[in-house]
Amino acid sequence: MKVAFFDASVDEIPYIQQWEQATGDEIIQIPDFLSKENVHLVAGCDAVSTKQIPVIDDEVYPQLAEFGIHHLALRSVGYNVVNFELANQYDLTITNVPAYSPRAIAENGLTVGLNLLRKLSTIQARMRRLDFTLPTSLLSDEIFTKTVGVIGVGRIGTATAQLYHALGANVLGYDPVYNAANEAFLTYTDLPTLLTQADIITIHTPLDESTYHLIGEPEFQQMKPGAIFINQARGGLVDTATLIQHLENGHLGGAGLDVLSSESEFFWKQFTTPTDLPADYQRLAALDNVIVTPHSAYYTNLAVQNMVRQSLTECQHFLTGEKLLYKVEP
Ligand code: COI
Repeated sequence: MKVAFFDASVDEIPYIQQWEQATGDEIIQIPDFLSKENVHLVAGCDAVSTKQIPVIDDEVYPQLAEFGIHHLALRSVGYNVVNFELANQYDLTITNVPAYSPRAIAENGLTVGLNLLRKLSTIQARMRRLDFTLPTSLLSDEIFTKTVGVIGVGRIGTATAQLYHALGANVLGYDPVYNAANEAFLTYTDLPTLLTQADIITIHTPLDESTYHLIGEPEFQQMKPGAIFINQARGGLVDTATLIQHLENGHLGGAGLDVLSSESEFFWKQFTTPTDLPADYQRLAALDNVIVTPHSAYYTNLAVQNMVRQSLTECQHFLTGEKLLYKVEP
């Protein structure tokens, strides 16, 4: 098969080459996200794969159909870049790769959670200002004395809950889907209970119309003073302006944000002037107890390898008529 492979990054090349050698397939590496400007590059291809942050332009769907493409293999867990009405209209099957490495994201979240709990980024910022004092504001806590609330207990939420549980934390989980096996390491609860009881709140739900701004003013208000909020899922799950207010006024103890609504303006790009960055980021970056990372929680060797292999496997399955492993049907 011949695959148009959008947003091909250097880290993916070894796995693309291994795939080509093993199968004889031709993978056309396109460095940019799939867009109306470059969709013509799918001409002559049998399959299309992309891994992207910006939403796919509406104009792309009819064009893919014209080029005879009826499958888009996302190399991501998230599928919010897709307009499913248009995908249905143009008979475009969507697959994702939800199991490329839940641990990659869960371990990153745990690292950020422990950093904020122990106030490391605040301590480091003070030291950079030549302040080596230990005021009582730097007193912190051990994780085994704390409650962690996991919103969204799918693959990544489950891996996250297991890690915190292994460290002795009391873990609460909220998810519309109940999985009895998870009771081994968390206690299911409703969202208000989780919000009012958790010291660390970490969100792992997909972004769609029903979860847009799932965490807004009423939810932040319910959080404990000093609570730590972590989002590595999608920026749109959270009302960022409200989050910033609750950080700036000292209600929240910190935030770890690997995603932001404004991220497609600046994540994965190089800047020289801080004032060119989005205003929400500038306010967050001014706070010592906030860790913003550029959508890098997923970024491990295993994850990259699996994203490439699993998405190309789906392309193969689609073309041969084999059962798809991860068809997205929201
Ligand atoms: C995902 O897999 O959903 C991610 O957020 C990472 C991806 C955009 C590279």
